Amino acid sequence: MQLRPFTGAYLTDPAVVWRELLNAPEDVHFADDLGLWLISRHEHVHRALADAGTFGNALTLAPIYEMCPEARSVVMRLDVPPTTAAADSPVHARTRRALRATFANTGPRVADQYGPIVHRRVAELVDRIADRRAGVVDLVSEFAALLPLLVVVDILGVPERDVPRIRRWADGQIALIWGQPEPAEQVRLAQALLDFWHYCQALVSQRLREGATGDDFVSRALRHRGGDDAVLSAAEAASLAFNLLVAGHETTAGLLAHALDRALSEPGRWARIGAEPAGVPAFVEEVLRFGPAIDGWLRVTRRPVTIGGVLIPPGARCLVLIGAANRDPAAFADPDRFDPSRSGNRGHLSFGYGPHFCIGAALARLEARVALVRLAEAMPQLRLAARHRSRFKPNVAFRAHRTLPVVQPRSSQRA
Ligand code: HEM
Repeated sequence: MQLRPFTGAYLTDPAVVWRELLNAPEDVHFADDLGLWLISRHEHVHRALADAGTFGNALTLAPIYEMCPEARSVVMRLDVPPTTAAADSPVHARTRRALRATFANTGPRVADQYGPIVHRRVAELVDRIADRRAGVVDLVSEFAALLPLLVVVDILGVPERDVPRIRRWADGQIALIWGQPEPAEQVRLAQALLDFWHYCQALVSQRLREGATGDDFVSRALRHRGGDDAVLSAAEAASLAFNLLVAGHETTAGLLAHALDRALSEPGRWARIGAEPAGVPAFVEEVLRFGPAIDGWLRVTRRPVTIGGVLIPPGARCLVLIGAANRDPAAFADPDRFDPSRSGNRGHLSFGYGPHFCIGAALARLEARVALVRLAEAMPQLRLAARHRSRFKPNVAFRAHRTLPVVQPRSSQRA
């Protein structure tokens, strides 16, 4: 079969394709257009994510297509040591230990360490939008894509003036790996990736020169390392920063845009978010299940494996379809119905599962909850611009809205 992720049904409404895959008699498919095995059932996606010994991560950040030779020669100069998302054990276990020790990843730790940053940044952005006189505001570029980036640069101790270029680099990295850029664009994006990496190396060198005494993530990681490469090398600390700046940004931006789109499209939902904030966590959880910000992720088999009766050879690239697993009727009753009151929707796989489970899940949830409530309270009259239709960026893994234009009736704008 062909997945055709950059055109047609998969781009406009991937759930149609997920349904076809889930309804098909075969459990696992091979997409000839991408050279990828497609794993879609909840049980199998869960198994692939849990079994890191069979389904490896080492190549997850290599482009999914054959890059042109010029771009490849630029990428060859990228000497980022693999850490967490791009590593298998024992490197994964060691670098994940370093990340867990230095990056808050439980609800209480996140609320305590990052809560003040999230509340301050949300308030700033909401005020900026509420003060706008013009009619239409794009909530993707002015809110959803900005908030997670501002939060993550604050956590990392990166100056705010660098936000525009980090945004370009992070967007470019995702397009280079998971998109379909033309050869000239591949070279440009590869070069930008190199610049991004040099920026992260310089950040670590600067912290080392300053003695790494600060409260920011990079200083914490360097203190955790204690000068011992067997714990974490300085290059690995830079690699963690490099990964966090991307992982902490596009993903949560996607979640925010999906949540805002849903909240503003459904009659009465926006008013309820402002009036009943206690219901927001369940709403966010159902948004995560229904339309995950990462709806497919790569694994490469490290040995032969039989899954759903299909033998997959070693070295095979598998697209683990998180979005399809979240719509599997074997795991969720009436899965194509959006229902925040459903019980057990924490069984979704939107933050992955097992050894690579998302380190930023608690932070993403906090950002989404605070952002929705604050915006709905400040602008209860907000509504989607007439004739808005959701359109996504062409990408195999990240499901990101291009725009989300909203209007605020004049009567509700601040005097
Ligand atoms: C809605 C927002 C988010 C989504 C949907 C998401 C999704 C995911 C998924 C599916 C994985 C598993 C990848 C795998 O199995 O190989 C993952 C891992 C990861 N995420 Fe997130 N993520 C989000 C937010 C964040 C944030 C805010 C951060 C940090 C600031 C973050 C940092 C990471 C890191 C470092 C890993 C790698 C963990 C490891 O390999 O041990 N993510 N994320």
